[in-house]
Amino acid sequence: MSERALAEPVPPPAHRAPSPRSGFTVTQDWNTYTPDQHDIWRTLFHRQEAILRGRACDEFLAGVSALGVAADEIPDFRRLNDILNKATRWSIVAVPGLVPDAVFFEHLANRRFPSTCFIRRRDQLDYLQEPDIFHDIFGHVPMLMNPVFADYMQAYGQGGLKALGLGALHNLARLYWYTVEFGLIETPAGLRIYGSGIVSSKGESVYCLEDPRPNRIGFDLMRVMRTRYRIDDFQVTYVAIRSFDELFDATRPDFTPYYAELAREPDLEPGAVLPSDRVLHRGTPP
Ligand code: PHE
Ligand code: CO
Repeated sequence: MSERALAEPVPPPAHRAPSPRSGFTVTQDWNTYTPDQHDIWRTLFHRQEAILRGRACDEFLAGVSALGVAADEIPDFRRLNDILNKATRWSIVAVPGLVPDAVFFEHLANRRFPSTCFIRRRDQLDYLQEPDIFHDIFGHVPMLMNPVFADYMQAYGQGGLKALGLGALHNLARLYWYTVEFGLIETPAGLRIYGSGIVSSKGESVYCLEDPRPNRIGFDLMRVMRTRYRIDDFQVTYVAIRSFDELFDATRPDFTPYYAELAREPDLEPGAVLPSDRVLHRGTPP
């Protein structure tokens, strides 16, 4: 009998509907993953491990090793949380899928990262519209081991709650998209990836650095918050920061006047290139 069964007479949380009161959290029922599901994780992990060497930034790769996420099996959140908590005081909470914006921000503001538990099917290895456990855990959590990035994510959650109240979520969401999900970083060795939507995608990991088609531009906060993005295909523009400190410092001020200014300006198309953009060159293939 498990400790939980002894401690609580009520059904375990996984059997209860996720409630708004608990921030839509559920329990990761780790024992219910099938051997085939662990094998899907293994396939995804091995593929990305090979592709990301020389393409992902050092901070991401260091996070993967320090966390101990590995190829062998779908990670158990309890195990990851022991390590993550000690490193940066973040924790992973399980959610059934996308949660309302306010709930998502509330979690981040409290250093909790909401992660899905389900893994994609074998016929979805290359592409999935919604986040799954591979995207959420392999893609997002390694960067939360980095102290500066960890603080940025918390600040983003606080900023999200504020943006909701100011009706500026569309602007702030673009910042998340072009940094957390699809961000690149300039390094002495060339452009490298830190965005979770890229590191969890086989095709885009190569495309974002090596394909001649997409624009690659230097980070500019207001420029990013004006730029719409594509959700259904590889990005047409990637934004590169020079450092995580640059990103954190640029986002430190109160955004209230920024949102007012953005409301007076037109949005930019995803593929727009401006004279003021700092155009970056493709990385040297690893
Ligand atoms: N400083 C921002 C604000 O006042 C909050 C924020 C921090 C937003 C970090 C994004 C990232 O709204
Ligand atoms: Co994501």
